[in-house]
Amino acid sequence: MLQLHDVSKKYKGADRFAVRDLDLQVRSGEIFGFLGPNGAGKTTTIKMIVGLLQADRGRIVVNGHDLAKDPVKAKHSIGFVPDNPNLYGRLTGIEYLNLIGDVFGVDGPTRARRLDYYLEMFQLTRAAGDLVQSYSHGMQQKLALTGALLHAPALFILDEPMVGLDPKSAHLFKEIMREHVDKGNTVFFSTHILEVAEKLCDRVGIINQGQLIACGTMDELRQSSQKTDLSLERLFLELTEDGDNHGK
Ligand SMILES: Nc1ncnc2c1ncn2[C@@H]1O[C@H](COP(=O)(O)OP(=O)(O)O)[C@@H](O)[C@H]1O
Ligand SMILES: [Mg+2]
Repeated sequence: MLQLHDVSKKYKGADRFAVRDLDLQVRSGEIFGFLGPNGAGKTTTIKMIVGLLQADRGRIVVNGHDLAKDPVKAKHSIGFVPDNPNLYGRLTGIEYLNLIGDVFGVDGPTRARRLDYYLEMFQLTRAAGDLVQSYSHGMQQKLALTGALLHAPALFILDEPMVGLDPKSAHLFKEIMREHVDKGNTVFFSTHILEVAEKLCDRVGIINQGQLIACGTMDELRQSSQKTDLSLERLFLELTEDGDNHGK
């Protein structure tokens, strides 16, 4: 569903790569957790996958479409919720969603059905007519999520989705991710909240200092480090130990 081949990115003026030689395969129908400490390169990777940043090297294939050769088809397969949704504050919620629906060419009846479903689930139905700038952070997250799912994307990408959400909303987000893969789609999300990844993900990849240092199911990760009964937290701390010392 999603393939990254030797993807690298160095920001202008930086002395080291933010992401280096990243190789990653995410399969159809799985929830993949992209884990790593702050500054590991998660957001940079996600921005390259969704086409907001151009990779310096390497190849990204989304749903069979090469991002560099077929960007529109690749992007049409993606729904994306950024870590800090910067929505159009002077639109109402429903105006924003209709704009997204138009961009992705979602027909009227399908649009109405999906909007009803998600707005109701997120208790946004009544606020839909209000300006987005009056929404709380959590409401904006939910609006962004509704917009990202409006065209039923084959690949649903979220950057740190649980940050700033109340427990009920966080629970809803998790349910929606599971529901989305149950329909045969794929979810890729980044987090530093390990329990979330451990409970929710079919597979995880751990990135540290721009490089993928582990990838697989929890069982596979435990086996590869030849340890038993290790929580993801312990494993994560051990694998990223050097990263913690970086810059000290
Ligand atoms: N716009 C930018 N310009 C320069 N350096 C950046 C920029 N964005 C991120 N970085 C650097 O790239 C590295 C990876 O950052 P990021 O991808 O945001 O990590 P994460 O999302 O895992 O916390 C960090 O060292 C960060 O300081
Ligand atoms: Mg980030």
